[in-house]
Amino acid sequence: MFKSSWTRRDFIRIGTAAAATGAATKFTLLEPKPLWASSRPVGPNDTVRFASIGTGVRGCELLEASLRVPGIECVAVCDLYDSRHTAAQEAVKKNVPATRNYKEILDRKDVDAVFIAVTDHQHRKVFVDACAAGKDVYCEKPMSHTVEDGLAMVDAAQKGNRIVQVGSQRVSSILYSHAKEIYNSGKIGDVYAIEAYWDRNSESGAWVYPIPPDASEQTIDWNAFLDGAPKRPFSPERFFRWRCFTDYGEGLAGDLFVHLISGIHFITGTSTVARRAQSTGGLFRWKDGREFPDLIETFYDYTNFRVYLRCNLNNDQGEFIGFYGTKGSLIIKGSTLTFTGQDTRPEPESYSILGWPLQLRTQYLTKWQAEHPLPKPLNFNAEEEVETFGVPTGYSDLADHEANFFNSVRSRKKTVENEEFGNNAAIGCHLANYSYFKQTAAIWDSAGRKIKG
Ligand SMILES: NC(=O)c1ccc[n+]([C@@H]2O[C@H](COP(=O)([O-])OP(=O)(O)OC[C@H]3O[C@@H](n4cnc5c(N)ncnc54)[C@H](O)[C@@H]3O)[C@@H](O)[C@H]2O)c1
Repeated sequence: MFKSSWTRRDFIRIGTAAAATGAATKFTLLEPKPLWASSRPVGPNDTVRFASIGTGVRGCELLEASLRVPGIECVAVCDLYDSRHTAAQEAVKKNVPATRNYKEILDRKDVDAVFIAVTDHQHRKVFVDACAAGKDVYCEKPMSHTVEDGLAMVDAAQKGNRIVQVGSQRVSSILYSHAKEIYNSGKIGDVYAIEAYWDRNSESGAWVYPIPPDASEQTIDWNAFLDGAPKRPFSPERFFRWRCFTDYGEGLAGDLFVHLISGIHFITGTSTVARRAQSTGGLFRWKDGREFPDLIETFYDYTNFRVYLRCNLNNDQGEFIGFYGTKGSLIIKGSTLTFTGQDTRPEPESYSILGWPLQLRTQYLTKWQAEHPLPKPLNFNAEEEVETFGVPTGYSDLADHEANFFNSVRSRKKTVENEEFGNNAAIGCHLANYSYFKQTAAIWDSAGRKIKG
């Protein structure tokens, strides 16, 4: 998902882009921070024991990344589909006990924390039960399937005094931290316009995942999957391609907008929901029975800036966030961050005075020079104003995100992407879908804690 290594082609691409602008881009490789927060070595009493509930694609990715994080140990796994027990044991390189019933995991005294990587419509149930059982929770994004789910989850976490982290891992990325530093430094000035997109052009990108040959009602607990959703006959398409259906997922908004919104909230320090969202889009190409559009565009109104988001499954433009400020721009594209300054030094008007007679023009320019005794240098030094940052080969923002969670579990200090952060980002997704499906502006009623049309 997050491109984590530098290839020769990437360097050539940067070089070419720099040549096109006439600027010699300064390139800096960012340095990862240690995954273990304490200055002491990892001791046996530091070990946090955890289990993963949901070991599909993401659960396995989480387990694999957990092997890089010091001071933690996976003790059990849970999934509704038996083959995923094996996949999880392979991912964590250990023959840990596996079950279909997550309550067995929550009953275990040796489990301090859980990963929740189940389908979105099951997040609330597992999350609330985990908090009630006294477990700390790393819950995958988007935190909630509905606004009501998210509010109940925030209450459960706070009532249970649990450490919670939501799984939009970019929030822990060194690239995003650096973007936040530049943003906060004032180097790009005041930012009123933010644009982000994530476009893909493949079957996998459109969630047309293959159905494994052993999938059946014998190997999958279909009834448990349907909990919280309407009853239906067994459908492997629904089980494996759940993102396409409103009963279980939130389409492109819940899958991808949530990362863009989380990144924007993190970098700008926003801890609220957008006041209003207005979406458009359509289902143009992937007409396989899905219920969500394959193109969605949403405008969000925040108090101090406006945000435009797009996801398009019909062309591959990759992942992009652009912050456009009064003194420069900050662009995150894939695994690079580029700052470009703008020449904002005062200069005399040249365009509109073309319509003045020569005498008035001369008078204006003379006066301007007198008022600005230091002449503007002939050339803006573009070389100093373009700077690109990247992450080293093998860097994993997911390992960083997991390390941040487990360090919080030990210190009991709230995570950055805590339940309120995750809930705000998820509400942004619900606003986008509300507006798209109801064909109206979606207004966030913060006092009533609900969306109004
Ligand atoms: N942070 C990221 O970049 C990222 C990437 C991919 C997926 N995700 C999120 O991770 C979650 C899982 O997505 P996925 O791609 O792994 O889906 P998946 O379909 O591959 O796996 C989901 C698994 O959840 C299991 N499940 C559902 N209800 C359960 C229950 N009650 N008890 C136990 N297991 C249950 C299913 O059996 C299934 O195997 C989703 O919320 C998704 O949005 C996050």
